[in-house]
Amino acid sequence: MTASFSAPGKAILFGEHAVVYGQPAIAVPLPQLRARALIRPLDSPLKIIAEGAPGRRGIQDPLQKMAEITQQQLGLPRLNGEITIQSQIPIASGLGSGAAVSAAIGRAAAALAGTTIRDEVLNSLVYEIEKLHHGKPSGIDNSVIVFERPLYFRTGYQPEFLRINAPLRLLVADSGVAALTRDAVAHVQRLLQRQPDFAREALQRIGNLVESARRCLEAGEQARLGQLMCENHALLRALGLSSPALDVLVAAALAGGALGAKLSGAGMGGNIIALTPAAAAVDVEQRLMRAGAVTVISASIGGEQRQA
Ligand code: PMV
Repeated sequence: MTASFSAPGKAILFGEHAVVYGQPAIAVPLPQLRARALIRPLDSPLKIIAEGAPGRRGIQDPLQKMAEITQQQLGLPRLNGEITIQSQIPIASGLGSGAAVSAAIGRAAAALAGTTIRDEVLNSLVYEIEKLHHGKPSGIDNSVIVFERPLYFRTGYQPEFLRINAPLRLLVADSGVAALTRDAVAHVQRLLQRQPDFAREALQRIGNLVESARRCLEAGEQARLGQLMCENHALLRALGLSSPALDVLVAAALAGGALGAKLSGAGMGGNIIALTPAAAAVDVEQRLMRAGAVTVISASIGGEQRQA
């Protein structure tokens, strides 16, 4: 018998990096992109197999560790069997691959022992594993991935689930350049030491944008939302978090009729997201591919059902 447990990728709509310094941020799940963990109960001690997935340096340990801390937290007996990971989420590209794999393993490990894990408990365990990957994460990735709902997030507070008034059509375009979150976060930390006034003001302005974006999302004001995405991208760029490849993709999306576009996640590589009306989707996608995107994923956010 096998059964499968999963968690989605995610995109940060607004507020990445500023969220590390206490500002709010908004993130959405990408249910179409998933990490899955297949379980096979056996009599032998737990083995985790990463199939065509992570390739992330040192990933094997975090995978084992996630199963281990789930077992400890739930007070389970020693786990037996196999967990096979299959992930569609590109790694090191700001789409939450690591957190999604951890979340899927937590659910699978509980299932191997014949039980389930509550989202609140799973969220705190995935956060522990995120810390192994990049020091002091804000916690936004694990929260949006475990709860699989659009959320307004501020470190130290309960995530607030957002009601998105009009469905958001996003195109997610991968620059093909892998970048480590920890490097981008360290870059901002250095900038705060060297140019504190400049960096602090930019982070504060990003936080202010997030508040406006929340109102637009709830009111369904997509044109304004798009403008705010461009403003957020400009601030991230000023902080040195964009790259020529990402800027070219943002410009291509806007030229094709996207309402707004920005890098998403840690930056310096990875993905951009473009808010794209249905009528412009084909043109924007073609332009993104011509501008160097290695993949373009289409996602519709709002009103989606959670998958098994
Ligand atoms: O890991 P990524 O690329 O999704 O980026 C995480 C977002 C940051 O704000 C840069 C870091 C954090 O811990 O929130």
